[in-house]
Amino acid sequence: MRLDRYVSIATHSPRSEVTRLIRGGHVKIGTQVVKDGGVHVTVGKDAVQVKGQALEAPGTLVLMMHKPQGVVTTTEEGAGPTVMGLIPRDLQRKALAPIGRLDKDTTGLLLLTTDGDLNHALTHPRRHVERAYRAELAGELCSNAEAQFEQGVQLQDGTLCQPATLERLGPVSARIVLREGRYHQVKRMVAACGSTVLRLHRERIGQLWLDPLLPPGSVRRLDGDELQALGVAWPQDTVESA
Ligand code: URA
Repeated sequence: MRLDRYVSIATHSPRSEVTRLIRGGHVKIGTQVVKDGGVHVTVGKDAVQVKGQALEAPGTLVLMMHKPQGVVTTTEEGAGPTVMGLIPRDLQRKALAPIGRLDKDTTGLLLLTTDGDLNHALTHPRRHVERAYRAELAGELCSNAEAQFEQGVQLQDGTLCQPATLERLGPVSARIVLREGRYHQVKRMVAACGSTVLRLHRERIGQLWLDPLLPPGSVRRLDGDELQALGVAWPQDTVESA
């Protein structure tokens, strides 16, 4: 894509203004100032900056949501309040989908993206992307729960889970890190170790933590560092068809 078109889409600015910016030496590809708007930019590879600010490239959108209790993780309508209903109008896209699911009563980090490949990469069982949860429990876990988690908890229906990590934070509070995603997995692992989950909150996916300043129910784009933490090598995008 031509540089001037790329900058115009990414900044929502008219081409005439973009041409002024480019000719004025305010636009860089990588570390290089480029004054010719006709230069080719490879979307997904080239990092473009305007006045020192990294631009989001056209094509992909990744959002962080602090999921509150009481909303369902689905793109289907008719199931009551859903996570899709929390997305502000300017961030709504037809192709946007949650990356994995959180139960209706689970709070915390939920990512959504228009990028099917990214969604697949983060949810595929063979990738073993970590998910960290904080769980508040109804009672103490059995004494060997850490060892069971380390070896792979056997659920009450006989399913053997992949090894996971359990850290007790108090008598009825724990941090649990999974590397696979089964239905109600934390709740079922905790049940297999003799307790019940009262509250569940996801803190982290891979190396990406929920922004502590993002209030429950809020949504925002990921910034460049956060995209890198997820292993996304390209800048975030603003429109789908470019
Ligand atoms: N495990 C659960 O039991 N529930 C969730 O929402 C996520 C993981």
